[in-house]
Amino acid sequence: MKIRVLGSAAGGGFPQWNCNCRNCDGLRRGTVRAQARTQSSIAVSGDDENWVLFNASPDVLQQIRSFPALQPARALRDTAIRAIVLIDAQIDHTTGLLMLREHRSPHPLWCTVEVRDDLSAGNPLFGVLGHYCGIDWREVPLGGRFDIDGAAGLAFEALPLTSNAPPYSPHRDQPRPGDNIGVTLVDAKSGRKAFYAPGLGEMEKHVWTAMQAADCVLVDGTLWTDDEMIRLGAAQKTSRAMGHLPQSGPGGMIEWLDRLPATTRKVLIHINNTNPILDEESRERAELAAHGIEVAYDGMELSF
Ligand code: MLT
Ligand code: MN
Ligand code: ZN
Repeated sequence: MKIRVLGSAAGGGFPQWNCNCRNCDGLRRGTVRAQARTQSSIAVSGDDENWVLFNASPDVLQQIRSFPALQPARALRDTAIRAIVLIDAQIDHTTGLLMLREHRSPHPLWCTVEVRDDLSAGNPLFGVLGHYCGIDWREVPLGGRFDIDGAAGLAFEALPLTSNAPPYSPHRDQPRPGDNIGVTLVDAKSGRKAFYAPGLGEMEKHVWTAMQAADCVLVDGTLWTDDEMIRLGAAQKTSRAMGHLPQSGPGGMIEWLDRLPATTRKVLIHINNTNPILDEESRERAELAAHGIEVAYDGMELSF
């Protein structure tokens, strides 16, 4: 199994177009040592030929260009993307579908009923796409193992988790099971597993069990402190209220990752542009390194 990180940033990307926080401004001026990052997406393959796209980011066209394996050029119109899986209905995970509208057949699109409903009403993306290539909706089953047509060598397991529904959803701040999922990616041959959850607000028991069973976890790296956005004056909500477990502090992601075996590869993904871990020379980045925690970057590849 190969995982390619297409976009490692949270909504807005890094630098964010209108942001002059220390990171965004510092990256533009060259005074902060950091890498630019596009918005949240990974591609996964079991055979290096057929790929499943997890989330369709607003930056998907740039991401496809920067990863030639996704364009095998076997026909006039072609792609190596066999299916798309959405882990929630947020703008940063779904807007790229509009950019992929020229496809010659409907996109096999896997998501829960709850996500499908938000993308049919609050944000009527599915209806709009019906006027272009269309959507071939497949329900992500919660709990058991499932296969995706064309994803040779891979199996998948999805679980509901507590994060948040998008701001446009009638379920914002009252999320239902199915508004957000985490997915275990399984290499069918070796049985090796990676757990992917870019939006994870609470460490529920079943989520923790899935993380313990994985050889690699790619988990929510949005914000360092719970009140990061409030202190900056960038938002009114805490990290937890937005559906993202912060890294530092009691009950934070670092504490949880510390409890995993030393052999588990630990990677933070979906990093907000305000997060001090983006600065490669920061104290916070050094702290992660001391805990054996990596920070995902665009173009990162993980092989099992
Ligand atoms: C989130 O996960 O909270 C988002 O990145 C929100 C967004 O897409 O703006
Ligand atoms: Mn997001
Ligand atoms: Zn910023």
